[in-house]
Amino acid sequence: MNDISTSLGKITLKSPILNASGTFGTEYFNFFEQEVLGAYVTKTITLKPKEGNPSPRLYETETGLLNAIGLQNPGLKSFLNNDLFELKDCLTIPLIVSFSGATEDEFIRVMEALELHSGICGYEINISCPNVKNEGIAFGTDPDVVFKLMGKLAKLTERELIVKLSPNVADIALIAQAAEAGGASALSLINTLYGMAIDWETGKSRLSIPVCGYSGLGIKPVALALTYQTTRAVKIPVIAMGGIHSWQDALEFFYAGASAIAIGTANFSNPLTIPEIHHGLQTFLKQHNLNLRDIIGKVN
Ligand SMILES: Cc1cc2nc3c(=O)[nH]c(=O)nc-3n(C[C@H](O)[C@H](O)[C@H](O)COP(=O)(O)O)c2cc1C
Repeated sequence: MNDISTSLGKITLKSPILNASGTFGTEYFNFFEQEVLGAYVTKTITLKPKEGNPSPRLYETETGLLNAIGLQNPGLKSFLNNDLFELKDCLTIPLIVSFSGATEDEFIRVMEALELHSGICGYEINISCPNVKNEGIAFGTDPDVVFKLMGKLAKLTERELIVKLSPNVADIALIAQAAEAGGASALSLINTLYGMAIDWETGKSRLSIPVCGYSGLGIKPVALALTYQTTRAVKIPVIAMGGIHSWQDALEFFYAGASAIAIGTANFSNPLTIPEIHHGLQTFLKQHNLNLRDIIGKVN
């Protein structure tokens, strides 16, 4: 059997495929075996519950999806008392908890609370949200802020520490290097791009928040370029995502340098995307007598 496993910072994943945060629940495991995933990533949680934005919150475009969910989640307390138990009960694969905060202190408080619980293999730190102490400018857009935040979080944990990067920055390599220098053990990218849709008949925004998140097929070339640039700027592994719908798409990201990939929007149109990509990758590796590690970063 050709080897499809991959290294992610401190851990080895039996499969290089993850689910993208916020797009996937364990109900998908009614359709396929969870072991096709290398790890399960939760929806982003925050210290306090968030209702998210009013509807309409989703709009499908010709080439992707616009979302204005607004990090709706039940908050840390409810996550610890309910979701975490259910996840630990259900999962046989490693669990990665995604979380975010509006201040440095909030990130620290969430991580300190999660550290008290077993069964969590790592964290994905979502830094794409506004920093209330920095005039609402997203954490992930300032290398100094990212460096300091990661320095504080890295001191609190021995677990895998993944930072999820926003594509909405001038130079993603600078942010990636700041996260690495601060102590991140892996990176994931990309979060959603800025997007917008307007009803041409009425002139109204199609979503409750005019400028929202754009994901899916149309963002693939952008995600691929940012994966390529980032993997050349850092030594830590990168989990790449953005518009991956097929095993051929996945291969492009491995050639660009990704150590693992994640699937988001594609799950909505085809719930079997993940097992199909897993099968396609295995078949490709077998046909070419390759291990996955042979092709990572080998774009020419
Ligand atoms: C409906 C929806 C909800 C999302 N929620 C989150 C979230 O809670 N946390 C996060 O880090 N990213 C979130 N994302 C971003 C995805 O994890 C992913 O980074 C992005 O959609 C690009 O991948 P894709 O094109 O495969 O969907 C969300 C995306 C969508 C479409």
